[in-house]
Amino acid sequence: MKENRTLELGGGRDPVPRAVNMDIAGVSGVDVVADLTEEWPIKPESFDRIEAYHVLEHIAHDDLPEVFRRAYESLRPDGTIHAEVPLAHSRSAKNDPTHRSQWYWRTPMYYTDDDQLSYEIGSDFEFTLVDRNVRLFLTSGKWYVRPPSWLLKQWSVRNPSLIELVKLPYVTGVLEFTLQKLE
Ligand SMILES: C[S@@+](CC[C@H](N)C(=O)[O-])C[C@H]1O[C@@H](n2cnc3c(N)ncnc32)[C@H](O)[C@@H]1O
Repeated sequence: MKENRTLELGGGRDPVPRAVNMDIAGVSGVDVVADLTEEWPIKPESFDRIEAYHVLEHIAHDDLPEVFRRAYESLRPDGTIHAEVPLAHSRSAKNDPTHRSQWYWRTPMYYTDDDQLSYEIGSDFEFTLVDRNVRLFLTSGKWYVRPPSWLLKQWSVRNPSLIELVKLPYVTGVLEFTLQKLE
């Protein structure tokens, strides 16, 4: 049986178990030290899945098309890339000076064939969207905020239109999406 291989981008010190963790920082837990915006030391079509948690927002919009192209080349046919990014309107996203790109509901679509505007980033690779959702929650550590925060999370998973709430103070959120490589 073929081995199912996962490449994690920017796993840092807390990588996904059993994934090959590629990160710019040579800290413990990193298997391959490489900058995602430069050539990747990865053989073409050598992974079935790529995971990227809270790293794509650290890449500038100008570099993202190349990052997605390299991801495309590293994946086997039908392989997927699954990513999680903070929603751009979240206070936590706006506060962080290391963020180089902003992610909204439509942003992942620019890296797919599904959006009529995706030609604008000049992509020569083909992904399709297989899943996308948001999770909102309240940014307070107070114990009494936990139940409403939990409820907000449940509602937002079912109703992505609640994404607009992230503009309110104390509401933050993440966008999760999965793209699949087309043959
Ligand atoms: C916010 S941390 C997220 C770490 C981990 N994925 C998590 O969710 O806990 C961002 C990670 O991306 C890495 N990173 C930032 N820019 C990068 C780049 N250009 N190439 C590779 N890794 C990068 C950082 O070194 C860091 O480990």
